[in-house]
Amino acid sequence: MPEEFVVTPWEVRGKVDYDRLIEQFGTQRIDAKLSERIRKHTGELHPLLKRGLYFSHRDLPWILDEYEKGNPFSLYTGRGPSSAMHLGHMIPFYFTAWLQKHFKANVWIQMTDDEKFWFRDFDTLEEATRVGYDNILDIIAAGFDPNRTRIFLDTEYIRKLYPIAVQIAKRITFSTARAVFGFDASNNLGQIFYTALQSVPCFLESIEQGRNVPCLIPCGIDQDPHFRITRDLAESLGFSKPALIHNKMMPGLKGLDSKMSSSAPDTAIFMTDSPEVAIVKIRNAFTGGRATEEEQRRLGANPDICSIFAYYTYLFAPEDRYWGDVETTCRGGQRMCGDCKMELANHVVRFLEEHKTRRERARDQIEKFVVRD
Ligand code: TYM
Repeated sequence: MPEEFVVTPWEVRGKVDYDRLIEQFGTQRIDAKLSERIRKHTGELHPLLKRGLYFSHRDLPWILDEYEKGNPFSLYTGRGPSSAMHLGHMIPFYFTAWLQKHFKANVWIQMTDDEKFWFRDFDTLEEATRVGYDNILDIIAAGFDPNRTRIFLDTEYIRKLYPIAVQIAKRITFSTARAVFGFDASNNLGQIFYTALQSVPCFLESIEQGRNVPCLIPCGIDQDPHFRITRDLAESLGFSKPALIHNKMMPGLKGLDSKMSSSAPDTAIFMTDSPEVAIVKIRNAFTGGRATEEEQRRLGANPDICSIFAYYTYLFAPEDRYWGDVETTCRGGQRMCGDCKMELANHVVRFLEEHKTRRERARDQIEKFVVRD
């Protein structure tokens, strides 16, 4: 019996088998040929692509076909502001900013304060909106171009969004929403309606330009179910189906099947953590180390099950040679977990400090990015 796992927009649990997920969701794998096609335009490959962490897509070859024909695409991604952002939440934003830079694409970023209120992360809507503005600082700090990026909160852009949401909602039955998201009679109406709002930004660039502009959505694979619905109805609204590029879920610090959780703060590093807090979390993380130092020197450790090594892979060893060296010395028993954690902690502390500077600078830039009704 294979190990069970769950991936939905609201829950990721267990050790995810990404090959099975591709089959279950009916997406396509990103193979070497497709990566090469991207490299042709970008000159370099983002480490997340090179390492297979962006691993799956829908219609990405079509996006590139259109681009090569002189029909550039827009990018759309988003954030449900439930708490401070952790490293995992930042992944699609770093990647989207990279795509924006290389393809000179316009970007739409949706902040779903309504979603996080409906799904009971907050007692008041105002609190969700406040956290949304706080998260926007982290997102701007990911390096977006203010001339090509629009960020909006659902509650503040609803006049623009609503007429499109109305068209979309009419085309989604409760039966579809229930089948895709597992709703039952206890779900509130906001939860049931919400997917219509997450669809809308796929079409904003087309509406703005008054012609059909291809849309590419970089996101975690957990968000894919929403866009399966969007893709089914897009053409009936006169738009092309949005394309997607999916990342794997960066694991928590308690093992590769652990989840980064806002309710268990020691499982994740948050973008606003102090250096001291981040260091303690890293020190307490799960590794692939042996019971004793002697054994580890003799037999080597196992990076394949190690949260710390996963952090190097995702964000903290972008140079391949260094990353390869971490792996080889780990397997070969030359690298002890305590030292390896401290080495990672140094990278993380520097990373958070640099982020903090960009985040503070972002305070003055908010009005360059945020659009409202
Ligand atoms: P949210 O806020 O849960 O997550 C924001 C983005 O981060 C991705 N993500 C992760 N990626 C890697 N490792 C992780 N551990 C990890 N955890 C989360 C998510 O897949 C997502 O891309 N409903 C959405 C907000 C939204 C949105 C969108 C997301 C609105 N429109 C369009 C993507 C694309 C949400 O609550 O995301």
